[in-house]
Amino acid sequence: MPGKITLSVIKADIGGYVGHSSMHVEIKEAAGKLLQSQKGAGKIIDFHVSHCGDDLELIITHRNGCENPDIHGMAWDIFERCTEVAKSLKLYGAGQDLLADAFSGNIKGMGPGVAEMEIEERTSEPILIFMADKTSAGAWNLPLFRMFADPFNTAGLVISPALHDGFRFEVHDVKSSKRIFFNTPEEMYDLLVFIGAPGRYMVKAVYCKSPEEIGAVSSTERLSLIAGKYVGKDDPVCIVRAQGDFPAVGEVLEPFTMPHIVEGWMRGSHYGPLMPVSLSEANPSRFDGPPRVVGLGFQLAEGKLVGPRDMFDDPSFDRARDLCNIIADHLRNHGPFEPHRLPMEEMEYTTLPGVLEKLEGRWEGMK
Ligand code: F6R
Ligand code: MG
Ligand code: MG
Repeated sequence: MPGKITLSVIKADIGGYVGHSSMHVEIKEAAGKLLQSQKGAGKIIDFHVSHCGDDLELIITHRNGCENPDIHGMAWDIFERCTEVAKSLKLYGAGQDLLADAFSGNIKGMGPGVAEMEIEERTSEPILIFMADKTSAGAWNLPLFRMFADPFNTAGLVISPALHDGFRFEVHDVKSSKRIFFNTPEEMYDLLVFIGAPGRYMVKAVYCKSPEEIGAVSSTERLSLIAGKYVGKDDPVCIVRAQGDFPAVGEVLEPFTMPHIVEGWMRGSHYGPLMPVSLSEANPSRFDGPPRVVGLGFQLAEGKLVGPRDMFDDPSFDRARDLCNIIADHLRNHGPFEPHRLPMEEMEYTTLPGVLEKLEGRWEGMK
């Protein structure tokens, strides 16, 4: 059937097994059953349920467009029902990311993370979905820059006529709720001024310049800004289209061979390397980490999700994983000292203010 397809990836931590390290199989089964009944009723085209660490990931295709109240409401309902399962198993932090009491039209701003794109499916539509745990929403800035703007990563920017004009980046300032667009390569340095500070400025989407066509979209929800206090990390997701007018699959994966340092890890209060892993290894345990990223590959066929392929299940990422462990050891040796621990400004959004409050009266003025 012709017409546009919407791909929605909606995620939430609704309870961890054990602690915050992974997901219980009964949660995934419950989500799968609920989505299967929606598919049977013709409300969605297809779905895949996955996880990264303690985050439940709903990958859904449909024809309703982005920010659709029926699709968002369905996801909210699934998270609530899975929370009931989590409570019955006394899983850890059941319902953790459901920050609102009831659904009100759009799941954005209610706790769960969302990345959605509406596309005209190409003759062949390879899609990569990245899902991270124990890190925050700006974690995609560096890899998205490398994929779509760095010729040392993406050979196609130099040698393919389809990519040679570069791309357009949509950047959100999540602290002041503003956005700005930059064209690369011409405005690459302006872009880097902002996205090099991923705690505040986030690459929301990347587009082909002309005709404008979406190539990537990420979730930019910052839980701490929604809740006004620490309630767990954002654990963001990102969708990337590959091949043809977009970077090749291998160019999309290549940035993850350099494990960049992201914020998150233990108590959401530490910097650590982002480790690319297969699904079977997406269970962060050491010091509740280090932060993980999983990459699932699909071919879309009239909205049907053909896949997934577990893209980091490949020995060519072993060196990145080894390097992560070396960096992790070195950072861990700093214990409670920066730069392992986040700078004070970022600690405002952790549980540290509770400790500071207790000590407030002990500070004496000095001449
Ligand atoms: C990080 C994370 C964990 C918890 C830590 C303490 O995103 O989820 O590192 O912060 O395990 O958890 P609570 O405070 O729930 O005991
Ligand atoms: Mg958790
Ligand atoms: Mg998590």
